[in-house]
Amino acid sequence: MSTPTQQKALFLQSKQGEFTLGTREVPQPGAGDIVVKNEAIGLNPVDWKIQTYGLLVEKYPAILGLDATGTVEAVGQGGVLDNDRANFQQYTLINESLAAELPGKFSFEAGATLPLAYSTAAVGLYHQAGGPQLVPPWAEGGKSKYAKTPIVVLGGASVVGSLAIQLAKLSGFSPIITTASPKNVELLTSYGATHVLDRSLPQNALISEVTKIAGGPVSLVYDAISLPETQAAGYALLAPNGKLLTVLPPTVTETTEGRSVVSVLGVIQRAPNVEFGKALLAQLPALLESGDIKPLRVEVIPGGLGGITAGLAKLKNNQVSGTKLVVRPPETA
Ligand SMILES: NC(=O)c1ccc[n+]([C@@H]2O[C@H](COP(=O)([O-])OP(=O)(O)OC[C@H]3O[C@@H](n4cnc5c(N)ncnc54)[C@H](OP(=O)(O)O)[C@@H]3O)[C@@H](O)[C@H]2O)c1
Repeated sequence: MSTPTQQKALFLQSKQGEFTLGTREVPQPGAGDIVVKNEAIGLNPVDWKIQTYGLLVEKYPAILGLDATGTVEAVGQGGVLDNDRANFQQYTLINESLAAELPGKFSFEAGATLPLAYSTAAVGLYHQAGGPQLVPPWAEGGKSKYAKTPIVVLGGASVVGSLAIQLAKLSGFSPIITTASPKNVELLTSYGATHVLDRSLPQNALISEVTKIAGGPVSLVYDAISLPETQAAGYALLAPNGKLLTVLPPTVTETTEGRSVVSVLGVIQRAPNVEFGKALLAQLPALLESGDIKPLRVEVIPGGLGGITAGLAKLKNNQVSGTKLVVRPPETA
């Protein structure tokens, strides 16, 4: 393979500024790095939040993007603060140990549904400090360890929620209760949810349904949405000493009887996650081969890197349901 020296990239020009297509050098790999030709890139809500709110990124022009698959047959996460390692470009640097081989039977687009959401679901359940730190299903005795233990995943049709359901199933949790729009019942059942409740239920009705199904309050809630209202509902479902995992900063500030609210930071390049991330990615190809982890539904946005802005607008306007948005960088005009 001869790698070009220049490539197309999507730059966020300034804090809260516009995205524009441009060119930049293809990054050179250092020790332990590989250069991946990005074939499919997944879009994440954090990408539009960085643009809209000016979060996380200090150096501009900046390249965003956290999910990619490509050749060297890798599925990997970019880093949000380093342009060479971000994914809204045609070639990305990835630390080899933080990439996973994508089994040949899956498309690049299918692979791009996984990286950040999979690690966020997994870090929350198995690794996050203050979280439940469950024994992961790939560790000895971990598979099905939590049989007969109920779990609630709020927002099961989100990309993070869909993967949290799949991991909960692998860990043996039962019942697995989730919330979604009614049209997503079948999809979430296929991932392992045992009960899909209408996300529009008022909090009291939700609590009474969950309590009926689980036989009482639950000790673990994964809130894959983490808006103030879902966090409030998630907290209200908890038994004493129970844990609410959130994917956005906690909005529940007062806790009682040992209950805790734990914010999950799923990016595996973060120092506390690196070793866990390596083990997680080392196990992923086998879990994909066996069907224990299923890639999610995909919608390809046309236009390559040029389609990203339109895709992020769809995410921002809540027009995406049970689906990961993906673009194909080689299609960039
Ligand atoms: N902390 C971290 O490291 C980290 C990492 C990744 C993502 N995140 C955050 O996690 C959140 C989810 O990201 P994502 O990519 O998984 O989102 P996503 O797939 O874009 O979420 C869209 C889904 O959210 C569901 N939803 C929206 N409001 C809901 C509600 N009130 N109750 C239940 N479901 C609701 C919708 O379900 P229906 O279609 O069924 O209505 C829709 O399918 C975002 O806020 C993101 O920024 C954090």
